Amino acid sequence: MPNYGDASYWEDRYKSSENTTFDWLENYSALKDIISSLNISKETGQILNLGCGNSEFSEHMYADGYRNIKNIDISHNVIKAMGERNKDKKEMTYEVMDVRDLKYKDNTFDLAVDKSTIDALLCGEDAFINVAKMIKEVQRVLKVGGYYMIVSYGTPEYRMLHLSRKFEKFNIQVLKIEKDFVEEDGYDKHHYIYLCQKLEGADEISKEFFDKTIEELVKQQMEEEDVQEESDKEENKEIEQITETNGQITNNNMFVVQNENDNRETNMETNVKMDISKNDKKESKIKIEDNKVISDVI
Ligand SMILES: C[S@@+](CC[C@H](N)C(=O)[O-])C[C@H]1O[C@@H](n2cnc3c(N)ncnc32)[C@H](O)[C@@H]1O
Repeated sequence: MPNYGDASYWEDRYKSSENTTFDWLENYSALKDIISSLNISKETGQILNLGCGNSEFSEHMYADGYRNIKNIDISHNVIKAMGERNKDKKEMTYEVMDVRDLKYKDNTFDLAVDKSTIDALLCGEDAFINVAKMIKEVQRVLKVGGYYMIVSYGTPEYRMLHLSRKFEKFNIQVLKIEKDFVEEDGYDKHHYIYLCQKLEGADEISKEFFDKTIEELVKQQMEEEDVQEESDKEENKEIEQITETNGQITNNNMFVVQNENDNRETNMETNVKMDISKNDKKESKIKIEDNKVISDVI
């Protein structure tokens, strides 16, 4: 699986896909009604697209009348290409910026759109810490009453913990949208939309609790790494023991066991692969109406 959490992965991907566009998860037309329900002024509303990539989302939003749209991404290649492509749209800008360190003033935006950028960060190293940094920054640059709209494949069970940390103060509504296609049996059939409205007092709470949250996350991560290291050691020990008695490690990372009573070989991969897109299948409280969107407050 590609390393979606690594900035250099995106830089390479956009280099080799110059002059193409691609919208992750959902496009503007699927989200238009939800956005319009937020009552953001098309003329004066300030909009931020976090990790815009080469999506046409902002172009369609602009065509629908929204004017002040700032698009940011960590990839120089994609910002150059998308800026060039949209140079005629004067009020819409493209800028290289890290979502964990936004160069905007506090209380600037009415809407921040995150279409699968949180999913990308969650695939990388220090995932929980990076997501906390991004959300702290998004909350800071939103006006009180403004919305952080996340469009994600992640179910509430895997996303709500990031939106309910001590330094955050949002009113959150979770919606779901039926996917156009389902990859395979067993995969969730929905994409989730988290509408997080910044509440009064959020800035104060963030100042008080953000640093503590990061300290806790760093500690938690170190503990998890220790546990992982121990379990890797145990696993290696077991492999060594089996190797001594039954087989040999080959140079392609496959452990080959020769069964004495049977001439067939059994291949066991020694690398553990993590399926980051595995979604939980638990029933949620959210309803679907008219086969498309609906709502429920968590
Ligand atoms: C899954 S893609 C989504 C692209 C786009 N939002 C869409 O809906 O099609 C994730 C995007 O996040 C960008 N990204 C990853 N890490 C980032 C960071 N730290 N700061 C800004 N952008 C980032 C990537 O370059 C990529 O364009």
